[in-house]
Amino acid sequence: MTAHTRGDYLQSLYSLGGQAAIVTGGTGVLGRSMATALAMAGARVAVLGRRSAVAAEVAAEIQAQGGEALAVTGNVLDRDSLLAARERVMAEWGAVHVLVNAAGGNAAAATVGETADLFTMSASAFKEVVELNLTGTLLASLVFGEAIIESGGGSIVNVSSMSASRALTRVAGYGAAKAAVESLTRSLAVELGQRHGDSIRVNAIAPGFFVGEQNRSLLLEPDGTPTKRGLAIIEHTPAGRFGAPDDLAGALVWLCGPSARFVSGVVIAIDGGFSAFSGI
Ligand SMILES: NC(=O)c1ccc[n+]([C@@H]2O[C@H](COP(=O)([O-])OP(=O)(O)OC[C@H]3O[C@@H](n4cnc5c(N)ncnc54)[C@H](OP(=O)(O)O)[C@@H]3O)[C@@H](O)[C@H]2O)c1
Repeated sequence: MTAHTRGDYLQSLYSLGGQAAIVTGGTGVLGRSMATALAMAGARVAVLGRRSAVAAEVAAEIQAQGGEALAVTGNVLDRDSLLAARERVMAEWGAVHVLVNAAGGNAAAATVGETADLFTMSASAFKEVVELNLTGTLLASLVFGEAIIESGGGSIVNVSSMSASRALTRVAGYGAAKAAVESLTRSLAVELGQRHGDSIRVNAIAPGFFVGEQNRSLLLEPDGTPTKRGLAIIEHTPAGRFGAPDDLAGALVWLCGPSARFVSGVVIAIDGGFSAFSGI
């Protein structure tokens, strides 16, 4: 271990100073919070989404807090658009070290109605959700992973969900997609590790239940009180509440920074104890 004073040892473990990061879905509820956390830990952060105006708003918010940020328009299902985004970030900062794949989520059409006949489930909506979460994570990892290697190494963090490991009712497509994201996380960790050693690491976080744009109506009534499903979730979350986006910050900064230098291929649940609880 190199010599450190007490203060700068902690700083050396968790600082993202000098790193350039890109957060896909940085325009969303969790992506926005994760982009801000990376910036507050010292990284320069590119906020990527299809909605340019929202990406610009998030970048401006980060800058207003003293961080360095860039808004980048991009679609994770369109390789050319990701290549253009990569070019933009490389032109601006000359490097990419961190990729957070936060673009994703469920689609209303892929949520099976509470009393619906399961045999009428839409296969095309199912496919769409798998495409966004799985292929979107893959394409961004290929495009930005290559830049990470060219930049001397770094870290990719994917976003899974509680639905990956145990069945959540009504969201079979989303569960299948996130289970595949966890599998892809392990495959990329192994394949990239074998080729590039410890210079690139790939991990995932699995958030519990947070109120986002796409799941709001499943979790909350229009008056803001929890739905029946929302209440069941809170009852099965030992912490007794939904997550707050900032709850993801610590684990994310840890995974992206030097203190996680020997951590690759894992999925970290950030769920207030949901996945540990049997329900009894
Ligand atoms: N909220 C939760 O409880 C929860 C729990 C576990 C996991 N997650 C996961 O966490 C991630 C973020 O979720 P969230 O709750 O923050 O959802 P959100 O608020 O809906 O944000 C998702 C973001 O993804 C972006 N996006 C969608 N399609 C895209 C595409 N083709 N290309 C680029 N960006 C695209 C959207 O931005 P644009 O419209 O600007 O493109 C949107 O801002 C998702 O992967 C979700 O599955 C959420």
